[in-house]
Amino acid sequence: MEARYPSESLTTLTDLVLPGETNPLNNLFGGELLARMDRAAGIAAGRHSRRIVVTASVNHVAFNQAIPLGSVVTVEAKVSRAFTSSMEVIIDVWVEDRQSGDRTKVNEAIYTFVAVNETGSPVPVPPIQPQTDLEKQRYEAALRRKQLSLVLAGKMKPDDATELKALFI
Ligand SMILES: CC(C)(COP(=O)(O)OP(=O)(O)OC[C@H]1O[C@@H](n2cnc3c(N)ncnc32)[C@H](O)[C@@H]1OP(=O)(O)O)[C@@H](O)C(=O)NCCC(=O)NCCS
Repeated sequence: MEARYPSESLTTLTDLVLPGETNPLNNLFGGELLARMDRAAGIAAGRHSRRIVVTASVNHVAFNQAIPLGSVVTVEAKVSRAFTSSMEVIIDVWVEDRQSGDRTKVNEAIYTFVAVNETGSPVPVPPIQPQTDLEKQRYEAALRRKQLSLVLAGKMKPDDATELKALFI
């Protein structure tokens, strides 16, 4: 399969924070943001693989900053690395200042998706070729994150997580 670029999977969702989506402090409810990120990341993984994709794991989420009612929120998702059937997708979340239009990054997350066939069995995905410095950094670190996720899920023995262990030795 021919390699694709991360930019080919870029998915951008912009939407408002409405009253039904907030917590008692009038900030965006965490579960609503998780759903928006899952949707954008799923589209990105589908664009990379051109397959049905399922969320296999939410590897990391940082709610660094509350997002107030009425904010314009942009969720940007891009595949950072493709393995055999799985893809790591990194999601950056931005809030736009209503008057200046300036954007502030408020959250980020890392999800893993798996491409599957009609019966739900994993199928191979195209490799990925990072281009920018940030894409290269994210690509490089993705293998360690995959190993950590598999170890935490009880699907890999810590001893087999060679690249992850190398960070601590
Ligand atoms: C995700 C799923 C397809 C994996 O199936 P599986 O039988 O475990 O398949 P495998 O063990 O061959 O794993 C497939 C790939 O997923 C990766 N994977 C599985 N669990 C993972 C985890 N927790 N973290 C990171 N990667 C994971 C494997 O490393 C493998 O990657 P690779 O092919 O790129 O090397 C299966 O568990 C599933 O269908 N889960 C439900 C998905 C779903 O419904 N999501 C919506 C949430 S409600």
